[in-house]
Amino acid sequence: MQKLIAWIDARIPLIEVWDEHLAKYYAPKNFNFWYYFGSLAILVLVIQILTGIFLTMHYKPDSKLAFASVEYIMRDVPWGWLIRYMHATGASLFFVVIYLHMFRALLYGSHRPPRELLWLIGMVIYVALMAEAFTGYLLPWGNMSFWGAQVIVSLFDAVPWVGPPVAEWIRGDFVISDATLNRFFSFHVIAVPLALVGLVYLHIVALHKVGSNNPDGIEIKRHKDKNGVPLDGIPFHPYYSVKDMVAVALFMMVFAAIMFFAPEMGGWFLEHDNFVPANPLQTPPEIKPLWYFTPYYSILRANTVNFFYIPAKLWGVFFMGLSLAMFFFLPWLDRSPVKSIRYRGWMYKTALTIFAISFVILGYLGTRPPAGIYKALAQICTILYFAFFFLMPWYTKYDKTKPEPDRVT
Ligand code: HEM
Repeated sequence: MQKLIAWIDARIPLIEVWDEHLAKYYAPKNFNFWYYFGSLAILVLVIQILTGIFLTMHYKPDSKLAFASVEYIMRDVPWGWLIRYMHATGASLFFVVIYLHMFRALLYGSHRPPRELLWLIGMVIYVALMAEAFTGYLLPWGNMSFWGAQVIVSLFDAVPWVGPPVAEWIRGDFVISDATLNRFFSFHVIAVPLALVGLVYLHIVALHKVGSNNPDGIEIKRHKDKNGVPLDGIPFHPYYSVKDMVAVALFMMVFAAIMFFAPEMGGWFLEHDNFVPANPLQTPPEIKPLWYFTPYYSILRANTVNFFYIPAKLWGVFFMGLSLAMFFFLPWLDRSPVKSIRYRGWMYKTALTIFAISFVILGYLGTRPPAGIYKALAQICTILYFAFFFLMPWYTKYDKTKPEPDRVT
């Protein structure tokens, strides 16, 4: 075995890569459970790709055959139901993991220098993941697939001049049709996954260049021993590779429980309207995306007035785009002298709590009709959402922080 490894190592840098990224990658010794979600995101990405390969073997990207081919996978393909439920549950759990992974960054200031680029690559991954989920949702060709795509693509129509041709270009037609299904299929199975894998690789390279942050927000590279090893670091392998197995085991239990006992999650993971074939002549009573898009969907619908001669719909599209774009500016909006929430003052703690609660409420409101109390609440939460970002330079500057310790204790 050693001879074989030596033979390979003389031809490709096997040991060097292993050491650099695992055995001699020194991670802070104080990681807590929030640091599980990066590894879990890799796990879910692998699950999605593997189950996706098997689904593609039986799925037919044709508007006349797509719905029936999914039913065929569910009923006739051996273990097809398992593969399909793994893929559908995996999609929702991917977003659960990613939202927790992003929230961790806001808790411990992982978006702050020197990790700005790591954060930006993460944001591009997040947008790519949204594109992946959106294109995948059309494929079963259920009624919500059809109408969801219709609503989202027609948002582009609201943009003056360029909007309508862009919407037509995305659809490949004047309405959602077979041409749309074909191009969404090609994006979903090859273009976007390829980009995602490349981006995750860059994400890890960027992380290993600057080193991991930690719950204290301390840069462990500041204190090294005479061999250049950070004093507060421990090798990723075996310490964290073993620790991460605990997370994998727990995650797989939750994953299996959902898959076997509640694969539709009461309509949150697989919607009722998607068990009906796409019908261009019958709009579902309420068109809504799956839960991971609903916070943005609420922001889209929150503004109902035309102002400055601009129609309400265009403002909605603008606010929705802005709500996503704000995350990209986070590293430069945050002016606090400390990174971790442990040493920040009451202002940031309050702002982050209000932001997180507003995001969850917006998510719920996106599943309800935008009228009456729901509409008013969505408007309040949208204002709170933007206040978190726009007021950040101010409250992070004047917040009373505690001194950050020099070492991980
Ligand atoms: C497919 C999606 C993703 C994968 C596979 C992934 C993977 C990872 C891994 C393995 C780590 C190191 C372990 C850890 O810190 O948890 C990490 C760290 C990090 N990720 Fe991601 N990530 C993904 C998406 C994102 C997104 C969407 C963002 C934010 C917009 C993001 C921001 C970060 C940041 C800031 C760190 C450094 C955390 C720290 O050192 O405290 N990642 N990622």
